[in-house]
Amino acid sequence: MFTSLKQIRHPLVRSATAAITTLSVATFASSVALGVTNAKDESAARSALYASLLAGGCGALVGLMAREQEADRGMTQALDLEPPTAVNSMPISPVNWTDWRNFVVVRKVKESKEITSFYLRPEDMGVLPSFQPGQFLTIKLEIPGQARAIIRTYSLSDYAEQPAYYRLSIKRELMPAELDVPPGIASNFMHDCVDVGAVIPAKPPSGKFVLDVQKSSPAVLISNGVGITPMISMAKAATWLNRDRPLWFFHGARNSQFHAFRDEIAAIAQQHPALTTHFAYSRPRPDDVAIDDLSESGHYHSIGYIDTALIQSQVMPDAEYFLCGSPAFMESIRAGLKQAGVPDSRVFFESFMQARAASAPSPTATTSQDMGSHADGAGSVVFARSQKTAAWQPDAASLLEFAEANDLTPDYSCRQGICGTCECQLLEGEVEYNQPPTAAIATGSVLICIAKPKTATVVLDL
Ligand SMILES: Cc1cc2nc3c(=O)[nH]c(=O)nc-3n(C[C@H](O)[C@H](O)[C@H](O)COP(=O)(O)OP(=O)(O)OC[C@H]3O[C@@H](n4cnc5c(N)ncnc54)[C@H](O)[C@@H]3O)c2cc1C
Ligand code: FES
Repeated sequence: MFTSLKQIRHPLVRSATAAITTLSVATFASSVALGVTNAKDESAARSALYASLLAGGCGALVGLMAREQEADRGMTQALDLEPPTAVNSMPISPVNWTDWRNFVVVRKVKESKEITSFYLRPEDMGVLPSFQPGQFLTIKLEIPGQARAIIRTYSLSDYAEQPAYYRLSIKRELMPAELDVPPGIASNFMHDCVDVGAVIPAKPPSGKFVLDVQKSSPAVLISNGVGITPMISMAKAATWLNRDRPLWFFHGARNSQFHAFRDEIAAIAQQHPALTTHFAYSRPRPDDVAIDDLSESGHYHSIGYIDTALIQSQVMPDAEYFLCGSPAFMESIRAGLKQAGVPDSRVFFESFMQARAASAPSPTATTSQDMGSHADGAGSVVFARSQKTAAWQPDAASLLEFAEANDLTPDYSCRQGICGTCECQLLEGEVEYNQPPTAAIATGSVLICIAKPKTATVVLDL
């Protein structure tokens, strides 16, 4: 009954329902008791009446209490944002949202020296579908000076069963020290130019790097830097929906200035004894304080990097591992887990950044207005819409990279077969994938970011 009660959202209706139900049950029980004992005197009837009324009162209280529990479990998000209300008579329902949908930035919060969060509400004020912890949003940005819209993918960094907003937490990508290349286009634009009130189109939540909240097996969340974003969502969902599940949250940061969401995670851990946290700082600042085990106050648990030895010293042997962070970090943890005998089937990971090729394949395209003239040559790629045919370069990492080297500008985001942004119709021929795609692919389409030609001729709708 308690579970059913929690599904009633209005507190007074929930309280009245609980009161009526318990009153009925108590009245029935009292009547049966009077019948069985054959009590005919007035005081027995009065006692039965009082007992029934008391039960009804208790029921009303239980109804109200159910509301308190609901708030505690994060069924809905509150913060200081009002829940969305439909302003039109036909709010968009989740099932209708398949392509771009406009979102308004309703809040912008600096989380650390390089990470800023953006809280998004649908412009149409319609329903926000729930999502699985670990999933991402793909957003589209019109950035002045860019020839086309820039599409990027960002993990949802918060969780609620009935979300009132979506939160994205974005790291400013500076230019790599060793390369003479521009800084990150989208992340710098978000930090510098996107403020409350800005409108950003987004596709529905997607992604397969998710925590199954139904499972009870121990789970270990391991991240560094901005890799923390899907982990917060996973930690919140796991602790709210399955509070006894043993959970570890390992996170590596340079120091307190770069450590986003420390207080948010610490607050969850305080309420959920099944969640153990460990923060490692590689270069703590002089005023960063080691965490005191007794008071749990301070910034970090250990100095150095998160490594497999540290993880294995704390977690249960049959745990599942979820990894997100810099490529070098994930590579070292994955290698360590393998060495420790953890099977691949218990290790899940997501990489935010695909290393770019040191040099793009040379543009050897034979540009042709007469598209058909070179299409039959061995090892040729035909970009049908652009009316270009090019001899395939075996040193090209993918058809996407090859298209870019030939001055085409296909849409992309993850460049790893995760987001589906580069999906393109394959008009002729076959491709093979460098790695298994995780994005859903429509029949007749391919993900060019991880595909190479398999047949002598490949014709793409590009
Ligand atoms: C599933 C998924 C989830 C993600 N979640 C998050 C998240 O929660 N938070 C987050 O911050 N990010 C996340 N990302 C990463 C995000 O999608 C972007 O890749 C990131 O913000 C960088 O985009 P940008 O446009 O700023 O940088 P880009 O312009 O794409 O550049 C990226 C980096 O490459 C450098 N660069 C530019 N040109 C070259 C070149 N020619 N050669 C070599 N290097 C070059 C830039 O200086 C920059 O450092 C996620 C990615 C994926 C795939
Ligand atoms: S760019 Fe993301 S799947 Fe290809």
